[in-house]
Amino acid sequence: MIQNRFLFVLAALSFAGCSHIGMGLFLLKDDPTMNDPSAAVLGKSSYQASCAGCHGDAADGTGPDGKGLIARPTNFLAPEYTKSTPRIAARIVYGKGEEMPAFGGQLPEKTIWQIARYLHSLQRPSTAAAE
Ligand code: HEC
Repeated sequence: MIQNRFLFVLAALSFAGCSHIGMGLFLLKDDPTMNDPSAAVLGKSSYQASCAGCHGDAADGTGPDGKGLIARPTNFLAPEYTKSTPRIAARIVYGKGEEMPAFGGQLPEKTIWQIARYLHSLQRPSTAAAE
């Protein structure tokens, strides 16, 4: 009985907010780009191919495909954008809202980590969050 209730709660939670649970689990992973100096360079070219249309060539949120959207594509150069590489990677995997696509099934996970490392590298050293 208790077990059934537990399963029910689990099912309800995953139905209502699976991306939150998924993102939480994702954050437990080891960052494969941690000691890889080439990751940000590789991430930059994948970013240009898959993300710049909305987020802009310079990652400042001004891509042509982002203009007609209700939500503004994130400006990764803004001083207040200080997310860690794993948090950025989790977002890319799971997407956000209606307009930020979930790339989990579309790009290899390693590519997603490289893009996240690139976007994190754009943050100013004084404001960049710890790994
Ligand atoms: C179709 C346009 C579009 C494409 C393509 C797109 N994004 Fe986004 N992205 C958005 C929008 C719009 C938001 C803001 C969503 C919101 O706040 O509701 C966003 C938000 C994000 C965020 C969340 C920022 C945060 O921490 O809150 C990240 C990270 C991100 N995008 C990364 C990427 C990456 C990396 C790619 C390419 C793999 C990409 N996006 C491709 C439109 C797009």
